[in-house]
Amino acid sequence: MSITDVLVTGGAGYIGSHLVDALVARDYRVTVLDNLEPQVHRSGTWPSYANPRATYVRGDVRDRSVLEPLVLAAGAVVHFGAAVSVGQSMYQIDRYVDVNTRGTALLLDILVNAKHRVQKVVVASSIGVYGEGAYRCATHGAVAPTIRPEAQLAARDWEQRCPVCHEHVVSIPTGESKPLYRDNIYSMTKYHQEEMVLLIGKTYGIPAVAPRFFNVYGPRQSLSNPYAGVAAIWLSRLLNGRQPVVFEDGGQLRDFVSIHDVVDCLLLMIEKSGADFLPVNVGSGDTVTILEIAALLRRLLGVDIEPQVTQTGRRFDIRHNTADITRARETLGFEPKVSLEQGFSELIEWARTTPDVAEDFFDRALDELSRKGLLVS
Ligand SMILES: NC(=O)c1ccc[n+]([C@@H]2O[C@H](COP(=O)([O-])OP(=O)(O)OC[C@H]3O[C@@H](n4cnc5c(N)ncnc54)[C@H](O)[C@@H]3O)[C@@H](O)[C@H]2O)c1
Ligand SMILES: [Zn+2]
Repeated sequence: MSITDVLVTGGAGYIGSHLVDALVARDYRVTVLDNLEPQVHRSGTWPSYANPRATYVRGDVRDRSVLEPLVLAAGAVVHFGAAVSVGQSMYQIDRYVDVNTRGTALLLDILVNAKHRVQKVVVASSIGVYGEGAYRCATHGAVAPTIRPEAQLAARDWEQRCPVCHEHVVSIPTGESKPLYRDNIYSMTKYHQEEMVLLIGKTYGIPAVAPRFFNVYGPRQSLSNPYAGVAAIWLSRLLNGRQPVVFEDGGQLRDFVSIHDVVDCLLLMIEKSGADFLPVNVGSGDTVTILEIAALLRRLLGVDIEPQVTQTGRRFDIRHNTADITRARETLGFEPKVSLEQGFSELIEWARTTPDVAEDFFDRALDELSRKGLLVS
């Protein structure tokens, strides 16, 4: 039986809403469950981009009376409803664990104990489950260093060192088999979500996939949410005529993947079985430093504002992490198509025409981190 009805939790959010559009365009019947979390949806109403051909239900993923009937009506469940900030998760621990971990537990409890016809569960995981990316030591080959010691950060010695010989190591693309570790509560909850969904999927024969999103960028990303991705934060700073703040020396390597490529990959996960029961990296496969991202934004915006490179760090930050997307390519036939130049031009075009972007809450968020002692002095 093929899938006709898809439930997307968190479907009013950034990634979910793009997926909803793509699903509707492919004639799926789509239902969104979203509680319109005030930090993301400041108007408190459904966003203007809500798809008229989808059904929207306002409710919480932790509320069984709402979630259960929606799950029972679905052929596939895409579970994106979550609290999503690394920094904030370090002081709103109860909320993050409750929404993310318990919300997912409830979904699985329903799948195991009620009669359903769900043939696919896709749960949003994250680059965060890796902690640091993969590295190579000249002497010891592939190594997996963890968080940098405070004294190293205080000495502004930003590059990772080999856990065996303590020499500097070089970043290499991270594959799904890299040993995992989590250094913040948000990433722990993403790990719990992925592990629980894959375990229950395997145990009960419900095909499940856990996309590990790298840095997803594109239209609808919340620009006024200071906890959102770095590209969005810098864009709102630059549009406000202010310097983007770059932590450490700006040499951090990342993988920025366009929302359109992410949606393509998610459709493959829903429609194909190649990645069932696996975590799968979702990235562009290309590597860029965050200083290069700042420069690209500046050039495309045509503004003359240099970034402020702080030479300080946040305690929970990783140095490098870039995606090895071999698994997505081989199991799903995934091929990213959008270049950084195209993708960021689109992001900027959207930001310029969106009234919501003007506000810049970054300083307040930074103060909060500082007061909680999460910045390296
Ligand atoms: N954006 C990225 O780069 C990225 C990277 C890694 C993982 N992810 C994951 O992808 C998923 C989607 O992220 P996004 O960037 O679209 O975030 P988003 O904040 O734009 O969307 C999340 C949506 O979930 C809703 N939500 C929050 N709590 C809820 C609850 N208790 N009940 C029902 N709905 C709730 C919010 O209102 C929002 O619409 C998340 O699970 C996130 O952890 C995103
Ligand atoms: Zn070594």
